[in-house]
Amino acid sequence: MPEGYTRGTVTGYRCATCGAEVSIDTLYPFKCPDAPAGDSHHVLHPVVAGPDPELIDDPNPFVRYGRSLAWWAFARAHGMTDEQCIALTREVADGFYVTPCAPNELLSAELGADVWVKVEVDQLGGSHKARHLVTILLHLRAAEELGLASKDERRPLAIASCGNAAIAASTLAKAAGWPIQVYVPNIDGGAVIDTLDSLSAHINKCPRREAEAGDPAVLRFREAVAGGAIPFSVQGPENGLCLDGGRTIGWEMREALPAPARVLIQVGGGAFAACMGWGLGPAYRLDTVQTEGGAPLDRAWRLAEGVDAAELGRRWSDFMTPWDNPNSLADGILDDETYDWQADFEVMRASGGRTIVVSEDAVVAAWELAKRTGINVSPTGSAGLAGLLPTAAGPSVQPGERVAIVFSGVFRG
Ligand SMILES: Cc1ncc(COP(=O)(O)O)c(C=O)c1O
Repeated sequence: MPEGYTRGTVTGYRCATCGAEVSIDTLYPFKCPDAPAGDSHHVLHPVVAGPDPELIDDPNPFVRYGRSLAWWAFARAHGMTDEQCIALTREVADGFYVTPCAPNELLSAELGADVWVKVEVDQLGGSHKARHLVTILLHLRAAEELGLASKDERRPLAIASCGNAAIAASTLAKAAGWPIQVYVPNIDGGAVIDTLDSLSAHINKCPRREAEAGDPAVLRFREAVAGGAIPFSVQGPENGLCLDGGRTIGWEMREALPAPARVLIQVGGGAFAACMGWGLGPAYRLDTVQTEGGAPLDRAWRLAEGVDAAELGRRWSDFMTPWDNPNSLADGILDDETYDWQADFEVMRASGGRTIVVSEDAVVAAWELAKRTGINVSPTGSAGLAGLLPTAAGPSVQPGERVAIVFSGVFRG
């Protein structure tokens, strides 16, 4: 079985780009130690070894699968007991639950297939994003409990986002009483900003500066991290620890489905699909969905066909390049680069999956259909469903085929 595919336990980290190894007891295993300063083309992936540890019978997924998480292995390596890890999880990850995953009658009838939906719109923070972030926070809190870091000298958390990730990050930070800096585009108001305000996040508007290339919010975020802030990011290259907790949603779906299915995941920065694929394992074909208005993963997938996995990261700019001016109703997946593309390639290649690019009409139709299910999901969250709708070339599902999607991201109006 390819590495990273058993639930197992995490024994350390390895850089997907250069192969650098990082030991599990490392205090801040956020970034590849061999990445040159300012180089965001390195990313630490968890190294997993079997056998699967015993599940802990608990409704909170971060307790249930705790023994397979990297932060837990870090804490155990420094002498914390399982009981102490459980107690810390109850404090830091309070409110998470195993979200429902069931066949959806309406979608199955409409598509003539066996369509399963995992509903993640009521998860803490309104999407799956908090799953990526809470294990970073657990790691930081464990370091404090172990006396490896001081509670009195907490460095602020930092995130660049103006969507579900920022809300998830600010929700967790507020509960932990940890200061957070959120870097957003230069926009006025809106539902997300209002929510961030109500969560007492410190909002930094980032206007575009003349003659500066790249996303200004990401650039200001990176400056903050260079100045000492903690990267509280949902993108692996900024903080590989986000790829730890995201796997819980894949483990949950694997337990809910009676047998392997084809799973379609909407992709922005790519961490979600990577974690789903790692959690599910290669028996579950993982297809990624992007829109015609922004499909850098699909472009890289075609360019890198047949290229060995070990070469991808070193040749990053040959394959993964920023999409010019991405645009779609599914505005949460408009990252101009798919930062976790290497892990996405790994799970697609291992499971026989592929990239799917959907038309904007399909994004709109999928959202209309999703609304008929009565689930309050955003157009971003229903974009995976768009990959199941028929196209001019014919149907996108086999009659009776078992397929699964995740409705993540509550519609905020
Ligand atoms: C609801 C929802 N689904 C999927 C995604 C895609 O996740 P990722 O950026 O990890 O690919 C996002 C990202 O913002 C999201 O908000």
